[in-house]
Amino acid sequence: MASVPAAAPDRLSLRRPDDWHVHLRDGALLQAVAPATARVFARAIVMPNLSPPVTTVEQGRAYRERILQAVPASLGFTPLMTAYLTDTIDPAEIARGHAEGVFTACKLYPAHATTNSAAGVSDIMRLEPVLDTLERIGMPLLIHGEVTDAEIDIFDREAVFLERVLDPLLQRHPALKVVLEHITTSDSVQFVIEAGPNLAATITPHHLHINRNAMFKGGLRPDFYCLPVAKRELHRLALRSAATSGNPKFFLGTDSAPHPRHAKESACGCAGIYNAPFALESYAEVFEQEGALDRLEGFASLHGPAFYGLPVNRQRITLVRESQVVPPRLHGNDAAGSAVELVPFHAGERLGWRVELLD
Ligand code: DOR
Ligand code: ZN
Repeated sequence: MASVPAAAPDRLSLRRPDDWHVHLRDGALLQAVAPATARVFARAIVMPNLSPPVTTVEQGRAYRERILQAVPASLGFTPLMTAYLTDTIDPAEIARGHAEGVFTACKLYPAHATTNSAAGVSDIMRLEPVLDTLERIGMPLLIHGEVTDAEIDIFDREAVFLERVLDPLLQRHPALKVVLEHITTSDSVQFVIEAGPNLAATITPHHLHINRNAMFKGGLRPDFYCLPVAKRELHRLALRSAATSGNPKFFLGTDSAPHPRHAKESACGCAGIYNAPFALESYAEVFEQEGALDRLEGFASLHGPAFYGLPVNRQRITLVRESQVVPPRLHGNDAAGSAVELVPFHAGERLGWRVELLD
């Protein structure tokens, strides 16, 4: 007799997930966006690209405090802070931040690669003393992996980075733990699979859902503009198979990056997609479409802690098969306190899952 495929479940219980890459911003915008992350995720690696960036232990400590003030304590949310690497940052400051439990990881932005990256690293070789320190103390390096040369096509900047920067860096520092953030290409998928166990990657929900055509469908669509920019369909398919493969080198990092609507719908619009409010539902949609719902927990809740050497969360959450329409607009305030609109990822679309709130 032919075997009957198991019916897809209507409820999915998983260990509470973590977001290994998020932008929580600051000021009133932080108040508006942080609860969406804290409601679902137990921990989040918080990006340091504020203005000015988080480069000192005191700044990291103070920012962590502002985040904790912005979310209800009952959610039990832990922000994991990162230090923003510059050409001149003192390795001793980073090591102290790590030893004092303030900094979990360091973030490498190549200078001018993206939002608030002007103070980033202009020459990777200037970072050698920092990389030696990270390697020695076992502190992960998180990388925005794009070259910034204007003559390199924007769709090729990630692939060129692998060859010109990342490969030599890993050879110079074989014991350094590296997360290649928000990967967007089949080249990165392949690179990560073939590299040693010290290299992992995060994958965003938007890069699993959209390819570059989304930015141009019927006109220019700033809501789908982010960095690294979405690539061709073949790359999206490679990301989907990596995320759903069960390979522990791939884990959840939303790169939720809110900008007020007016800053995106502008002649020079900001890069970033605000996906935090429906992030887990968005991933669940992909895993279901790929017939891999049984692998969502690994990707969302287990692989990240294993790579970072942290315990998995004890709490559990439930995804319920229940359709909901994502609001076309959300409301908040910008960093200066003015009322702004935010357009969430999947605005106006129907999603098939809903996260049941934590008790
Ligand atoms: O799209 C992006 N937005 N990519 C980044 O790397 C930064 C982020 C932001 O901070 O807006
Ligand atoms: Zn980011």
